[in-house]
Amino acid sequence: MIIKTQVGIVGAGPAGLLLSHLLHRRGIESVILESRSRSYVEHRIRAGVLEHASVKLLVDSGVGQRLLSEGMEHRGIQLRFNRRRHLLDFRALVGRTITIYGQQEVVKDLIAARLQEGGQILFEVNDVRLEDLVTGDPSVRFVRDGKEMVLRCQIVAGCDGFHGVCRSSIPAGAFKVFEREYPFAWLGILAEAAPASSELIYSYDERGFALFSMRSPRITRLYLQVQPDEDLANWPDDRVWDELQVRLQCDDGWRLNEGPVLEKSLTTMRSYVIEPMQYGSLFLAGDAAHIVPPTGAKGMNLALADVYVLSEAIAEYLKFNKREGLEGYSNRCLRRVWRAEHFSWWMTSMLHRFADEDAFQHRLQLSQLEYIVNSPLAAASLAENYTGFPLE
Ligand code: APR
Ligand code: PHB
Repeated sequence: MIIKTQVGIVGAGPAGLLLSHLLHRRGIESVILESRSRSYVEHRIRAGVLEHASVKLLVDSGVGQRLLSEGMEHRGIQLRFNRRRHLLDFRALVGRTITIYGQQEVVKDLIAARLQEGGQILFEVNDVRLEDLVTGDPSVRFVRDGKEMVLRCQIVAGCDGFHGVCRSSIPAGAFKVFEREYPFAWLGILAEAAPASSELIYSYDERGFALFSMRSPRITRLYLQVQPDEDLANWPDDRVWDELQVRLQCDDGWRLNEGPVLEKSLTTMRSYVIEPMQYGSLFLAGDAAHIVPPTGAKGMNLALADVYVLSEAIAEYLKFNKREGLEGYSNRCLRRVWRAEHFSWWMTSMLHRFADEDAFQHRLQLSQLEYIVNSPLAAASLAENYTGFPLE
């Protein structure tokens, strides 16, 4: 069976869904192919920090209603080291804030909006293959309910995340990869416990990094730096809580609220960029094109920014036959991507303990942290990057 549309989108994460939504608002048709079920993508626990510009983009495009009522606006973050707390007040430093709102909530809102407006999302498709990417008449083959199907379109958007198939459809020699792996992972838990701090806490501790975050007034989200090949079986809930209490402790006696652990998982830490983010009629967006370690909270924001740029470029091409936007897509995105890559790498390097870390390295990290909390200029630079840059 053949389906025709203007833009074929692979992946129903934040990138694919927002792209389809923004295209619809510009009168352009698309079909999304997703390998997982609707329920799976709506309940997958992922990131949770939205930059200032991401909130504006979602609100301005008409999908911000629940975000505005349920999202938790934060005017800053806390840095903790040497058992002391230091508030970085983003609003005072750079006049911008961030909002905590789970990625799966963004996904739910976008799926609801797409379906309500007659959008086509084909869930649980298999064996997605891209064809004829250099002809200007590309197609996407896939299997649905055991039947071979073809999606014919003018543009393919690869929004299928880091482990998707789109990136690997680009022939060797047509791209370069820039990559770093980090010698640790994050063990994350979601717990039914009221957040004991109103701000996120990034803690640099002798035993390793810890992060305190939240999802709602009842749910706390927490992370611990662990070995990259850590076995979750070695981390029963009691051990996780004990370690979190130690790494997040503060001289003023602050303690975490504990509660039932609802989810526990490991996140590997990697930096990755493919250049260019396009090949023929294929345009990569979000995690399909780049990965950042989660320390800078940039992953979801980059995905949203990419598709904002891509939706404009596609609209110019399909409506006015102007190709400049599409041709410049990768270059335009990569400026923001590399800024976020640097910021995420820098935050990661400053806040984690490295296995080969000697006393010199430790002193450097502490000095950097002291500089940020004591210099308004250094703090403003962190705040500017964390809250994010406006979408051009
Ligand atoms: N065919 C169809 N769909 C696929 C395929 C495939 N071969 N492979 C992966 N997918 C789907 C995944 O199931 C997922 O729903 O593509 C979607 C990609 O979504 P995300 O991984 O959420 O990526 P993206 O939309 O770029 O959002 C980036 O996700 O990983 C986080 O930290 C990251 O917050 C960032 C965000
Ligand atoms: C989260 O709430 O999941 C979160 C917050 C900040 C980060 C990473 C993850 O840097």
